[in-house]
Amino acid sequence: MQVSGQKIVVLGTGGTIAGTAADAADNIGYKAAQVGVRDLLASIPALRLAGGGAVEAEQVAQVDSKDMDFDIWKQLALRCQHHLDNPAVRGVVITHGTDTLEETAWFLQEVLHCAKPVVLTSAMRPASALTPDGPQNLMDAVALALAPDVRGVFAVAAGEIHGARLVQKVHPYRVNAFASGDGGPMGWMEEGSVRWAPNIAVGHESKGRIAIDLIANSVVTPRVEIILSHAGAQGRMADALVRDGVQGLVVACTGNGTIHHALEDALLRAQSAGVRVVRATRCIGGQVLPKPGDLWVDSRGLSPVKARISLMLDLLAAS
Ligand code: SIN
Repeated sequence: MQVSGQKIVVLGTGGTIAGTAADAADNIGYKAAQVGVRDLLASIPALRLAGGGAVEAEQVAQVDSKDMDFDIWKQLALRCQHHLDNPAVRGVVITHGTDTLEETAWFLQEVLHCAKPVVLTSAMRPASALTPDGPQNLMDAVALALAPDVRGVFAVAAGEIHGARLVQKVHPYRVNAFASGDGGPMGWMEEGSVRWAPNIAVGHESKGRIAIDLIANSVVTPRVEIILSHAGAQGRMADALVRDGVQGLVVACTGNGTIHHALEDALLRAQSAGVRVVRATRCIGGQVLPKPGDLWVDSRGLSPVKARISLMLDLLAAS
């Protein structure tokens, strides 16, 4: 699609960026998702000047992102696609909690037809903090959405740009809470300008792997759970999940996709009962390297939480 407009749409979903605490010195005892996205924007006068673009706000949800769910994802994806399809819109920015931001980013990457930027941003400190990080993150996200030739789903925080596939929250407190494992950031935001890391390609239109119509028309959400393989793991949890109607299991495996033998036996039973099994590694970096004789497919580098999303969408597509 031709991008003619300069309008940036900011979709609010809640999070710490919209959080408030009783005491400005308190960076952890706050309540997330208290300030509406329009008020957030109004509190950053400099934003209106960024790149000369018009900024418009829409509240899609107002949640602490630990409570994010498929229904909100669906609503968010449909609103994103609606705005992306509008020639007057240059890009979409989403304010989000840090805790599940990487999951939302991956869900959107899987379903959006994205010839424009979709930039998720967040904060580790509430809006009421003495030195909140949200305003700068929001300014950076808008600046990235206005930058030339940016297409696809990104996360921006603490001056770093991350892609939807690799981004992961890696710290529960510090302001630079995100990383992209072995890949590192895709680039950096510096005074409203983008500096891409070497050899980064961002100019390609990204077509969602799963048709967004499928999401729009879905009534039931496929049930996929994550199960952890660890020392002393047993098969009872997997057996119980199968009895409870689970349709897919993502195993957060040890090392290169290995699974405790007791859990492996239970997964074979689950597979016989028709449950799809996918292996991801619980290691923070790297990915499972497939080898002959593997019992189950691997997540092709997706973390367990992202592999869960892709398996849910696969099951939806197959239903
Ligand atoms: C949330 O994820 O909504 C709360 C935590 C945060 O945004 O940092």
